[in-house]
Amino acid sequence: MNGATPISVELKHRLYEESVQNHEADLEFMEEQFEHFRKRKPRTVREDFGGTAAMACDWVKLHPENRAWGIDLDPEPMKYGQENHYQRLNDEQKSRMEYIEGNVLEDFDFKADIIAAFNFSYFIFKKRAQLLEYFKKAYEGLNDDGIFMVDIFGGTECYEEQEEETEHDNHSYFWDCDKFNPLTSECLYYIHFKTHEDGKKYEKVFTYDWRHWTPIEIKELMEEAGFSKVYTYWEGEDEDGDGDGEFTLSDTEENCESWVIYIAGLK
Ligand SMILES: C[S@@+](CC[C@H](N)C(=O)[O-])C[C@H]1O[C@@H](n2cnc3c(N)ncnc32)[C@H](O)[C@@H]1O
Repeated sequence: MNGATPISVELKHRLYEESVQNHEADLEFMEEQFEHFRKRKPRTVREDFGGTAAMACDWVKLHPENRAWGIDLDPEPMKYGQENHYQRLNDEQKSRMEYIEGNVLEDFDFKADIIAAFNFSYFIFKKRAQLLEYFKKAYEGLNDDGIFMVDIFGGTECYEEQEEETEHDNHSYFWDCDKFNPLTSECLYYIHFKTHEDGKKYEKVFTYDWRHWTPIEIKELMEEAGFSKVYTYWEGEDEDGDGDGEFTLSDTEENCESWVIYIAGLK
């Protein structure tokens, strides 16, 4: 910590999940796209950089044949996930969900229909060779008709050093772009939270020292890793010009201030 107000592990992960995650929508989208391309239902999901692996726990609840793995290097979010998500599964569901403390660059002794790497976590790989290595591992980790899903963000505002505040029911979430180096695309982001009840601001609760990759770089790297087709999606707009949560296949769009989209690599 950096002299800022300390935050408990519980509160940190709860506020993070409430602020940035939307598993129902992610799972529904992945399932729908898998069925569209593969004409069958996906049954196994590997959540890379899973943190608390809340999404993987949700996946096993959706169908009695669904299985999931959540992989993360850090035992802290996994422990929170085990105590708060895994514990809420029944015994049969628990038998189909596994937390793996490990590196996504490792080889694993199972294959999945879908590998998901969300919340831009693969931006941790700053070198092209490292990201290519990860994409090759993801390719190997998939069944023959498997699909690799990642998300990515961008837009004209995303390289500006600024702090963006979003109000939630009981807290505010701050996405703080502290630095962006236009020559290397390296960037430094922080997440801060402010709880409404006591007005406390918790600074730098999460730090992301990343390279900001672009969709075309991801597409080309996935192709180089072996994926037979790579598709980009774009989000539709509601009448106020905000994202409407509907993502469709697209490869030509007008830029806007800020966007978050999916990219799918088909094995
Ligand atoms: C931005 S969080 C993402 C959490 C979650 N997937 C989500 O969507 O909110 C990134 C996570 O990646 C983990 N991580 C970083 N490098 C990793 C690696 N090489 N292998 C596995 N996990 C890694 C970190 O420990 C952290 O929990």
